[in-house]
Amino acid sequence: NRYATILAGGGGTRFWPLSRQETPKQLLNISGNDIMLNDTIERFKGIIPQENTVIVTNRSQAVLMESIMHSSVSSSNILIEPVARNTSASILFAALSIEKAHGDSLMVVLPSDHHITDEDQFRLTLDEACTVAEETDKIVTIGIKPTFPSTGYGYIDFVKEPLVRQPVAVYEVAEFVEKPNFKQAQGYLASGNYLWNSGIFIWKTSVILDNFQRYLPRLYKMMLPIREALGTDQEEAVINQIYPALQSISIDYGILERSDDVVVLSGQFGWNDIGSWDALGAIFPPDDEGNIIKANHVGIDTHHSIIYGNGRLITTIGVDGFIIADTGDALLICPKDKAQSVKEIVDLLKERG
Ligand code: GDD
Ligand code: MG
Repeated sequence: NRYATILAGGGGTRFWPLSRQETPKQLLNISGNDIMLNDTIERFKGIIPQENTVIVTNRSQAVLMESIMHSSVSSSNILIEPVARNTSASILFAALSIEKAHGDSLMVVLPSDHHITDEDQFRLTLDEACTVAEETDKIVTIGIKPTFPSTGYGYIDFVKEPLVRQPVAVYEVAEFVEKPNFKQAQGYLASGNYLWNSGIFIWKTSVILDNFQRYLPRLYKMMLPIREALGTDQEEAVINQIYPALQSISIDYGILERSDDVVVLSGQFGWNDIGSWDALGAIFPPDDEGNIIKANHVGIDTHHSIIYGNGRLITTIGVDGFIIADTGDALLICPKDKAQSVKEIVDLLKERG
């Protein structure tokens, strides 16, 4: 049986002031369709039973999440982390929980904050990825053709002769490099040899548990008591006790870079990690002036800007290449090429309390 695990614990800090601690990106309706978390669940309909969805999140988001979450997900399928310890811990938590409840199962890990277009192609790829993982003991990833030298993604080099050709090409992974520096990223892009890691992973629980034992044995040992405690009245106490001391490492550094048993499917759908304000162009096409305006806005000589408001009138004169985001209680003004630094503002605000 197939189970989805949705990682929904990230802060989405680069989307401040729209995203906040209690209302991070995945709980926002950015596309105008539904909150990103629900879009994620709707997207795998027909490939994974929607009621087989496990969500890993943190306590500060769980209450709001339950109230606005997709109707097919029962609240008992929300796993709550007392503190964020990055994606290795979240994934191991979900793997232990699924394996305990259902035995060895197929597990699909999905981020909660991606924008995907061409959903039929996405489902075709996901279905094939599930089949490969069901029939082998591989870690299955989905790669995306890179379009710019991003330093925020994982890069996958692969053996060019495919293992499988149809309906989706499957390749053996030669090298996985998480978040390279800019120079490396430029080289990878120019070589044409690499795919971006989409952050979607497919494996059997037995396979990923084996990989945790091999590559993150300390984390595995420390988290194993959670498996025993799940479903008992000790559950919350055990989780609260174990979590703070866990190593904070992403699955990309912890396992993907180290394992030899990784394959990649070449995803032919539109994919965007809506990581920061400048990525809104992937959802909303810019107007003739190059602006993306989601605000009550009047401008003169305003170009290549992203203007997001909450109803109050925003006016601009002679503005080029800026992000302006107004939520009523906070206002961000930032050149587009500094969009990644919004995270630093959030850190600064945290320091100030
Ligand atoms: N529950 C929980 N707990 N979720 C978490 C935690 C945590 O501690 N940390 C991150 N997440 C969630 C995020 O909300 C997001 O949905 C997903 O896990 C991935 O985390 P990100 O922090 O967004 O990772 P990234 O974007 O820097 O990098 C990953 O994704 C890229 C593609 O978007 C890597 O897998 C890259 O290799 C990949 O290219
Ligand atoms: Mg991300």
